Amino acid sequence: MKPKLNFAAMLICSMFLLAGAHAQPRQNIDKDQLPPDFVPSGKQMFTQYCAACHGPDAKGNGPARVALKVPAANLTTLAKRHGGTFPYDYVTKVLQFGPGFATHGSSDMPTWGPIFRYMDNYNNAAVQKRIKNLCDYLNSLQEK
Ligand code: HEC
Repeated sequence: MKPKLNFAAMLICSMFLLAGAHAQPRQNIDKDQLPPDFVPSGKQMFTQYCAACHGPDAKGNGPARVALKVPAANLTTLAKRHGGTFPYDYVTKVLQFGPGFATHGSSDMPTWGPIFRYMDNYNNAAVQKRIKNLCDYLNSLQEK
């Protein structure tokens, strides 16, 4: 139990350090001031967890692209490819269960659900908030 808590605390702390580099005043870095269900912004999570594969602009050109069996998808055309509306349900399922949830997926895309559950100490509301923040951020990047 103990190492897990320490790991989560370190992770949250380093996330906040990153946020601090942008706009937050320094005193906010103290982890004791973080609410237990603290969830980073969608943009911050995207940069940290997704940009390596999907690219900083979400168009699928991340630096890890060469190492992937299947190229990482362009995430700015999701709405376009789903009848003009950002597919919240679809993206939520991809994040929870992996991109293969509909077919027999076999790509390198991590299944984020269990990772977020672990990071959030099995707080389901926090996990849902993470996914919602990521969806909102991706929604804001959609091509018209
Ligand atoms: C290690 C590389 C990698 C990382 C990191 C990664 N992805 Fe992916 N992602 C992929 C690949 C590869 C695919 C294409 C999978 C396929 O078609 O089977 C994909 C597919 C997707 C899809 C489905 C796209 C579509 O057009 O249907 C979504 C949504 C998505 N990723 C979101 C994310 C988000 C959000 C993150 C960060 C939390 C993330 N991915 C992190 C590699 C990655």
